[in-house]
Amino acid sequence: VREKLQDRSVALVGLMGAGKTTVGRRLAALLGLPFSDSDQEIEQVSRMSIPELFEAYGEPEFRALEARVVSRLVQEGPRVLGTGGGAYLNPETRSHLKDHAVTLWLKADLDTLMARVMKRNNRPLLKTGDPRKIMSKLMGERYPVYGSADIIIQSRDVKREVIAAEAAEAI
Ligand code: S3P
Repeated sequence: VREKLQDRSVALVGLMGAGKTTVGRRLAALLGLPFSDSDQEIEQVSRMSIPELFEAYGEPEFRALEARVVSRLVQEGPRVLGTGGGAYLNPETRSHLKDHAVTLWLKADLDTLMARVMKRNNRPLLKTGDPRKIMSKLMGERYPVYGSADIIIQSRDVKREVIAAEAAEAI
């Protein structure tokens, strides 16, 4: 797999609750690559949590910071990169990802996503109304875009190790 990647990264895209961070960590271990997570990196550089950032500066500022962070991370050398759910929707961020990474969409159904995000609803986007309705709307808007990823893996309700192994196989 490392040979096939030819110095590119693997970028995991998909909605909140798809398992980008948890599956990403396992996948990185399987491939012997470092793991980075764009949300965690954003929190480190801004010294604020994602909800605080949204609250203080709003979504457009968050997206601008996200674009910079993702572009830096993918240029720092091959890694498995978990991206925030909206990152791939931003044309600028998407083109950085496409240039430097194999993109892998972790696709999940509404029930799976909701079960995972509601364990700890710290997603600002899901706080502006009925979370299930918002998630279902985001699925409608984003699935056609995520569909342009190089690889699509179904993120089902099985152990994350299983999904990571399927992802490694598919690369
Ligand atoms: C967002 C997803 C979040 C985070 C922010 C916005 C989105 O990341 O970046 O709350 O637009 O879908 P996760 O997908 O890791 O939850």
